[in-house]
Amino acid sequence: MCGIVGYIGDRNTQSVLIEGLKKLEYRGYDSAGVAIYTEEGLEVKKAKGRLSILEGELSNRPLVGSIGIGHTRWATHGEPSDVNSHPHIDNSSKFSVVHNGIIENYIELKEQLSAKGHRFVSETDTEVIAHLIADVYDGDIVKAVQTAVKSMRGAFALGVLTEYEPDRLVAVRQASPLIIGIGENENFIGSDIPAILEYTRNVYILNDGEMALLTKDAIQLMTLEGNFITKEVFRVDWDIVTAEKAGFDHFMLKEIYEQPKAYRDTMGSRISEDANEVVLPELNLTAEQLMNVTNIHIVACGTAYHAGLVGKHVIEKLTRIPVDVDVASEYRYRAPIILPSTLVIVVSQSGETADTLAALREAKRNGAHVLAITNVVGSSVAREADDVIVTWAGPEIAVASTKAYTSQLIAFFLFGVFYAQTLGKTDATEVATVIEDLQQLSSQVEQMLHQSARIKTYAEEISAHDHLFFIGRGLDYAVALEGSLKLKEISYIHSEAYPAGELKHGTLALIEPGIPVIALATQEELLEKTISNIKEVKARGAKVLAIAMEGNAEIGKAVDEVFYIPRTRAVLSAALSVIPLQLLAYYASLARGNDVDKPRNLAKSVTVE
Ligand code: G6P
Repeated sequence: MCGIVGYIGDRNTQSVLIEGLKKLEYRGYDSAGVAIYTEEGLEVKKAKGRLSILEGELSNRPLVGSIGIGHTRWATHGEPSDVNSHPHIDNSSKFSVVHNGIIENYIELKEQLSAKGHRFVSETDTEVIAHLIADVYDGDIVKAVQTAVKSMRGAFALGVLTEYEPDRLVAVRQASPLIIGIGENENFIGSDIPAILEYTRNVYILNDGEMALLTKDAIQLMTLEGNFITKEVFRVDWDIVTAEKAGFDHFMLKEIYEQPKAYRDTMGSRISEDANEVVLPELNLTAEQLMNVTNIHIVACGTAYHAGLVGKHVIEKLTRIPVDVDVASEYRYRAPIILPSTLVIVVSQSGETADTLAALREAKRNGAHVLAITNVVGSSVAREADDVIVTWAGPEIAVASTKAYTSQLIAFFLFGVFYAQTLGKTDATEVATVIEDLQQLSSQVEQMLHQSARIKTYAEEISAHDHLFFIGRGLDYAVALEGSLKLKEISYIHSEAYPAGELKHGTLALIEPGIPVIALATQEELLEKTISNIKEVKARGAKVLAIAMEGNAEIGKAVDEVFYIPRTRAVLSAALSVIPLQLLAYYASLARGNDVDKPRNLAKSVTVE
């Protein structure tokens, strides 16, 4: 994890670094720091806690210079503290490093360097990099970095600065994301595009094993072995305002309200003009290849995993092709059976999640065709997969994912219909009616957002509780899992999601008078069964809120409160039923006075295993 940024040029370096780090805080916010070459030499300022603390300290004594690196940390090795913050320096204080990733062999390196007399002050893996570079430095920082990385194992994106060559900034990418921003008489590095978008739209996206030497007026790209390379300039065509709050109190709320647009954009040109076919021209997968697929593995983490669970229901329902869903951190360690005819679908908002990327590589090693569903064009997952369906949700900043999740659902709906069309599993009339329902979803979400006040009131009531339950069957269970995760991550209320029929096998023991239970009951063919389960918890004193499909009046008699979602076909219901659960988590977090966009202990993008 962590975010890094770097600058060389005539602007106020300190402010370019701080503004860049603000855009990267979603990657971690345990501490922040900068190193700037000033008249006094290489100066480092770092502080535990949010970036605002560092910013406050720097405003008392600004660092003035025209080259610098900055870092926002999500702690892995060593607790969040001033000393463990980046940038790290060597004993001579002439070399400074910011790092995103993990150096797996850092203990071994630390021992070797200690034996040579290097003294370490932090508990981090990163500090060894500064010492290693200092140890091999022989007048050329590029060569020193190339030599140092040869002995490092693991994942690292680096920004390196030395007082000996204050007109050169070195950037390295090995299994952690890094981009280079191309300016005029100035250049930038960043963990991702928003960090530098205020200054330039032209970027180079480094690949693993590549590095760059930045001076004020030139960028030299090369491999870690020192071979010069050229790259196409990637032109960013989205706008910085898209990444700002646009009048909402929090990014999360803004992103919840952006969902109708995200649905429309993700469907976009993927529905034929006469609206009777899904078209996915971006796919390299041929119809023949698709017809030969015997089974599918969906692999992802967190919320994207929950989208995968919905994807399983959708694909199996529409195509009858068997689908397994795996948490990415488990996938490669369970020796999954990947056949040449297995299609592996990886789902990742950021496209940089380390476990998801590792699963993708495992699948490719085993000869599977990999399709990625991701929100970030140019991300590692997008570049390494054989095929990509981009979710056009736009930048998602809040740690709790909302619009990226629902756009992933839309991607699964589109893929499911496309696949069924290819297999001839649905006739043209059926496809046209599914498409009609798909196209309704965005206005149905708008309709639901108008009723957010009801959810707010309910959220304020439940915010006083410490435990609650979500129950549901089938697709509703998949959505219950996402509702529960959303609530946990930002409100810190303990909640559990259970298949409604499974409660009586243990969990029912936890139901006490007054405990809130949220029952998802949108699947009409399972409604009677779900109502029986609702009665089981009601009989033990639970207070039940049901989320049901418009027109199901009988559920009202079984529960304390109902929130109806607009009528849609069962297989698409998740795209609507999750909306009140997102709002519930948001308002419960707000009622508890939490930092909604930056929940404790979490980060938006997890680029370590
Ligand atoms: C982190 C985020 C989650 C996200 C998960 C997977 O844990 O906090 O919101 O669902 O990573 O991220 P990805 O970018 O791969 O979808």
